[in-house]
Amino acid sequence: MKDKNEAANHHDDDTLTNRQGHPVTDNQNVRTVGNRGPTTLENYDFLEKISHFDRERIPERVVHARGAGAHGYFEAYGTVGDEPASTYTRAKLFQEKGKRTPVFVRFSSVIHGGNSPETLRDPRGFAIKFYTEDGNWDLVGNNLKIFFIRDPLKFPDLVHAFKPDPVTNLQDGERIFDFVSQSPEATHMVTFLFSPWGIPANYRYMQGSGVNTYKWVNKEGKGVLVKYHWEPKQGIRNLTQQEAENIQAKNFNHATQDLYEAIDEGDYPEWELFVQILTDDDHPELDYDPLDPTKLWYKEDVTWQPVGKMVLNKNPEDYFAEVEQAAFGTGVLVDGLDFSDDKLLQGRTFSYSDTQRYRVGSNYLQLPINSPKKHVSTNQRAGQMNYYVDKGDNQNPHVNYEPSIIGGLKEAQQDGKDHTPYVEGDVKREAIDRQHNFKQAGETYRRFSEFERSELINNLVNALKPCRQDIQEQMVDHFKKADPDYGRRVAEGLKKKEDNSDESHRNPIGATESESAVRQAEAE
Ligand code: HEM
Repeated sequence: MKDKNEAANHHDDDTLTNRQGHPVTDNQNVRTVGNRGPTTLENYDFLEKISHFDRERIPERVVHARGAGAHGYFEAYGTVGDEPASTYTRAKLFQEKGKRTPVFVRFSSVIHGGNSPETLRDPRGFAIKFYTEDGNWDLVGNNLKIFFIRDPLKFPDLVHAFKPDPVTNLQDGERIFDFVSQSPEATHMVTFLFSPWGIPANYRYMQGSGVNTYKWVNKEGKGVLVKYHWEPKQGIRNLTQQEAENIQAKNFNHATQDLYEAIDEGDYPEWELFVQILTDDDHPELDYDPLDPTKLWYKEDVTWQPVGKMVLNKNPEDYFAEVEQAAFGTGVLVDGLDFSDDKLLQGRTFSYSDTQRYRVGSNYLQLPINSPKKHVSTNQRAGQMNYYVDKGDNQNPHVNYEPSIIGGLKEAQQDGKDHTPYVEGDVKREAIDRQHNFKQAGETYRRFSEFERSELINNLVNALKPCRQDIQEQMVDHFKKADPDYGRRVAEGLKKKEDNSDESHRNPIGATESESAVRQAEAE
């Protein structure tokens, strides 16, 4: 073994240093007066180490805190059905067959904290960052194809109702159904969430969807409405409540583990990307608004067209640097992709970068995981944790403004015509027409297999039975409006369980009867 002085003199690659590059010769003992203390204040190495440790956490994501990520690539087919992709979009990543674009994907659950079980009934996040030659494109989606609400003003209330009670810090079915019963547009999403589709088996076996309606724009500036869908080549698997609880009893990280190990073993997961395309108008022939995120565009109405595939083939090297600090947002589009007028999408677009400036810091886009894999040239300098000067190769370093005749950056040439949709209307607060809050929920219920229906009823009854009667009645009324059989079965299930009505309502959503029985047995 080397003695201390010898080690200090040898600056090998594996020599431990502090963050100033000073070799650390003793990492076991703080500096003290005598060997029993007290410690001394000038103990720089210790203060450096402990103060960094004290700052090792950044705020969790306010939603989607629990996640796993991986790197890979997207490979374009170059076509949309029988047409070249350029018919609909000029986005470069879709144009040529076989063209590969690097991606980073983060999967997540929504409601609970950073280390919460991955078996919980919850939508799953499916966010992709495409590092394209035109800069980054983020497609921030979920596994389920629809959402609870259609107005972004309601998002903080929705999340508060699903998050733990601010007093007890326990998730509470009564708070959830209190909100949902007063938000009839959530009936369709609740129908998926309480069915086996509410607990995907893991991340590799789930679908993904952009949920919101976006636009594609071609060289002529013509826009079409587009929805995105990811289909796992591994197949789709969901868990029953009971199966999820069995897994959770032994492993609350099963989805992260599954993804990491599959990639580690070279069993790379793949998804095929499909789009649905509609002309850019209101579509009065449909009984829903194509911008309404609580609605499906049925396959038989709008065909699914394959446009490429994604392969995940590399695990992160550092979870925090890549997965935790990754910042996705719906505003991050490239030329040829655009927003639709979907209000929820527009509300989201403010929220993501706003929270990331707070969660990661104002220069979050300089971090390697978030930075485009191409040249970045801006006049935005300085700010907290700035570590390089953004400047073009030929830029005069003094000119951090534009326009200028002495140097500096120049505006890019527009590639293709601008998309300039015409909009007019009174400025007002008003819900959309064609809300039809229950119709597709009923259709989804009828399209489920009998197994899915009975799981749905069972999970809903378990979650609703500890709730106040007026909340139960309102929910049954919504389910009846969706489909009389749906409402009747939930009502009958609740009636059968009336004897247990004194149970605590502070159960996590979907907990099975066996769990309640254990609690009751403990109370006796
Ligand atoms: C994460 C807001 C609706 C998918 C987040 C975050 C916020 C947020 C603030 C945390 C971001 C971060 O800390 O980096 C909103 C608002 C919504 C909304 C205001 C509605 C008005 C949706 C919808 C979807 C969705 C409809 C699905 C299409 C996601 C995903 C993440 C996320 C996947 C995690 C991204 C990641 O892995 O880092 N959302 N969200 N959100 N949201 Fe939303």
